[in-house]
Amino acid sequence: MANRVFRSSVSGRFDGYEGSGTQTRINWEVRFARAGVGAIISSWCGVDRRGYIVPGYAGIDRDNQVPFWRELARRVHESGSKYILQLAHGGRQRDIGGIEFRAGLSSTGKRDPLNGFPAEQASPEQLAAVVRAFADGAARARDAGLDGIEIHGANGYLFTQFLSSATNERRDEYGGPLENRARLLLDTVRAVRQRVGEDFHVQVKISVTERGNAFLPWLRRGNTVEDSTRVCRWLEEAGADAIHVSAGNTFPHPLNPAGGLPLKEVWKNYDGLISSGSTVFRNYLLYRTPLVNRIMQWRWERPAGEVEGANLVDSRAIKQAVSIPVLCTGGFQTASVVRAAIEGGDCDAVTIARPLIANPDLLELWRTGHDRPPRPCSYCNKCLFNLLESPLGCYDERRYGSREEMLEEIYAVFDPPPF
Ligand SMILES: Cc1cc2nc3c(=O)[nH]c(=O)nc-3n(C[C@H](O)[C@H](O)[C@H](O)COP(=O)(O)O)c2cc1C
Ligand code: SF4
Repeated sequence: MANRVFRSSVSGRFDGYEGSGTQTRINWEVRFARAGVGAIISSWCGVDRRGYIVPGYAGIDRDNQVPFWRELARRVHESGSKYILQLAHGGRQRDIGGIEFRAGLSSTGKRDPLNGFPAEQASPEQLAAVVRAFADGAARARDAGLDGIEIHGANGYLFTQFLSSATNERRDEYGGPLENRARLLLDTVRAVRQRVGEDFHVQVKISVTERGNAFLPWLRRGNTVEDSTRVCRWLEEAGADAIHVSAGNTFPHPLNPAGGLPLKEVWKNYDGLISSGSTVFRNYLLYRTPLVNRIMQWRWERPAGEVEGANLVDSRAIKQAVSIPVLCTGGFQTASVVRAAIEGGDCDAVTIARPLIANPDLLELWRTGHDRPPRPCSYCNKCLFNLLESPLGCYDERRYGSREEMLEEIYAVFDPPPF
C-alpha cells in the first residue's frame, strides 16, 4: 500500500435495484483512488439476498456480478490504490424493512431495537448456508481480481447479533458463553480462508465496544472491550489478516458515525420506511415532536471535539492483544492526530469515511501543509441521513459558497455518464 490511509465504507444507493453495479459506483470509488488513499474498503456488499439491507447497493451473491467488480478493480488499480470488498449480511437490521423477505435471519426472533423490523431465529442449517454464502462471496471477490475482503462483523448486522451479549439469547451452540456467540463469525473466517487460500487478504470489522444502551437506556450494554479482545485473538487464530476497530451495536449509533443527529434529515429519512417496522411510525412522531426530539438529539449527539480518534483507546487494547495489523475508524481528518496514532502504537492504519466525503482531496491538503482541511467535515451526519432518498455527498451547506455549489459537487458523481 502507498500509505496507511484507507477510505472506510461509505454506501450510496448508486447501483441497480437487484444488486448489479453501475458506472456511478465506479465514478465514486475512482474519486478516492485518484485522491491517493492507500486502499478503499467498498461499501456494504451483500453475500445473500436475504441479508440485503436496502436496494441500490451492488452485491456479490451471484457469479454475474463478478465482471462489474473486475472492472471496478481495474479502474481503482490504475490510480495505484488497493480495493477491499466489504462482505456483509444484515440479519434483522436493515435500512428499509422487508424488501424481499419480511423477516431477517438473526440470532433471535426479537425485532431490531431501532425500527422494530421483524426477525426469524436462524436454524443451524440456515447458518451453515450463511457461512457458505460468505465463502462464495470471497471466492468471487478473488476471481474479480480484488485485493482482499472485509467481513462486516460490526455495527449491529448479522455477526453482531450473534456476538452481542445484549442480543443473543440462544441456548444452542451459537448462544451463551462468548465462545459460542463467536462461533458463526469464526466459522465464517475459517471457511473464507479455506476457499481463498493463504495469499488473499481477509480482515474483519468489529464493534469493540457495543454500548447498546447509549441511546435507548432500557437496552442492555452488550460486549465490552474485554470481550472483544478475546474475540479478536480467536479471529487471528482463525486466519484473519487484520482487525478493523469500530463501535456501537446498531447502525447508526451515537458512537458510529459519531457526531450530529440532524432532525430534519432524520424525519425525512422515515418517508420510505413508515409502513414497515413496529416502531418506525412512533419514531417518526417522536422526531417531529418539539422538545422530545431535542431530548433524543441530546442523547445521541457527540460534540465534534470528541469525535476524532474516539476509538483509539479500544484500538490500542486490541493492538496489544493481537499480532496482526489493527485499523481504526472514527473522525480522522487531522494529519498530526493520524501520525500520532500510528507512531504511538494505537493502530497500524486509519480508515476515513465522512472527512473524505467532505474533502476528497484530504491527503493532498495534508501533503501541501494543512494539518486540518480549511473546510473540515463538521460530523453533522447530513450525508448519512440523506442517503435513502438522495445521492451520497456532503450536505452541510455551511461548507459551501452556495446551495448550487453544494449540489454541483454532489452531482459530480454521475459524471462521466454510462453512455
Ligand atoms: C453515509 C455513510 C455510509 C456508511 N456505510 C457504511 C458501510 O456500508 N459499511 C460500514 O462498515 N460502515 C459504513 N459507514 C461507517 C464508516 O465506514 C465509518 O466507519 C464511520 O463513518 C466512522 O468514520 P468517519 O468518522 O471517518 O466517518 C458509513 C458511514 C456513512 C457516513
Ligand atoms: S454532511 Fe458533510 S460535513 Fe456533515 S458529516 Fe457528512 S461529510 Fe461531514
